[in-house]
Amino acid sequence: MRLMVTGGAGFIGSNFIRLLRRERPDWRILNVDALTYAGNLENLAGLERDPNYDFVRADVADPAGLRAALDDEVDAIVHFAAESHVDRSIEDASAFLRTNVIGTQVLLDLARERGLGRFVHVSTDEVYGSLGAEGLFREDTPLAPNSPYSASKASSDLLVRAAVETHGLDAVITRCSNNYGPYQFPEKLIPLMIANALEDRKLPVYGSGLNVRDWIWVEDHCRGVLLALEKGKKGEVYNFGGRSEMTNIAVVEAILAQLGKPSSLITHVEDRKGHDLRYAIDCGKAERELGFGRSIGFEEGLARTIAWYRDHEDWWRRIRSGAYRDYYARHYGEDLA
Ligand code: NAD
Ligand code: TYD
Repeated sequence: MRLMVTGGAGFIGSNFIRLLRRERPDWRILNVDALTYAGNLENLAGLERDPNYDFVRADVADPAGLRAALDDEVDAIVHFAAESHVDRSIEDASAFLRTNVIGTQVLLDLARERGLGRFVHVSTDEVYGSLGAEGLFREDTPLAPNSPYSASKASSDLLVRAAVETHGLDAVITRCSNNYGPYQFPEKLIPLMIANALEDRKLPVYGSGLNVRDWIWVEDHCRGVLLALEKGKKGEVYNFGGRSEMTNIAVVEAILAQLGKPSSLITHVEDRKGHDLRYAIDCGKAERELGFGRSIGFEEGLARTIAWYRDHEDWWRRIRSGAYRDYYARHYGEDLA
């Protein structure tokens, strides 16, 4: 198998490539990534000399660059590349439309042109919108995205559906809940709160902190994507979740407790615009049809994540001392210096 992975220098993509190196060592991987602010080749350190791993810097929304990157031997694509942060999409949606919508269509066209065997589109539960106190997202829940990010992902899901229906492309869509674990960019809730707590900074919780997310250990999501690649049925959607619903405030309290830091670090800040109240996933279809299941629960995953961020202070300190500082100052009105 020669597999092209887009967005492999990001959080989930790099964990996926590392999983493949361990579990499918004979596969040849082509990682195509534009290396935006969120892409970091340090996430793949050690793979440079692996003869079964190649990296090409290219933008998925640029057909010429992508055509040059995709060699004749590629059999399948797993598409992670995206702009992924809701708050940035609220600030400016343009990069989200370009990468998530146009980029996905460019890849679909290329997959068709080359007659590729399989296309796995990695999407999110956020395309379903927001739940009240009850209920779960199922694969047939109507799409009702509320943020520019989730609207761009829903658009890309519809383009994948159209490629299956119109052109017969062998594609599957996966929709996963909130991931956490090593190599997550420290703008997302869990790594941001760990890094701030380690530095005794304030932990900015949006609004009441009673919004609920379902948390999944990143490697469990990656195993789901691999199952979808190998066992998924053409045109199907598979939900993945961690069966770990938590309010944001409970997540932050758990981080503080594991780090032995005081709750007084928590500060409630202005709520996110259009803040989805609750995400919760029914992943029964993936369990039954793919053999998907989480391997660890939230407490253990959080302990592993905290250990990783403690052991890799250089990694996140380098990020926080660079361009991310400008975003932080703009968004939270505070300098990370
Ligand atoms: P990330 O922001 O950490 O990484 C995104 C990667 O895509 C980066 O390496 C970046 O350089 C690359 N990229 C961005 N624009 C590109 C372009 N135009 N061309 C090529 N590469 C480009 O994101 P992540 O958290 O790893 O998410 C990966 C995928 O999983 C996304 O599609 C996201 O929507 C989906 N997803 C994420 C979560 C989550 O909790 N993080 C949950 C469900 C689904
Ligand atoms: P995030 O990690 O951005 O993921 P998503 O918005 O895709 O679910 O945010 C997770 C939850 O944490 C979400 O309800 C927003 C909240 N949040 C905060 O309260 N403070 C923060 O500084 C951030 C980044 C997020």
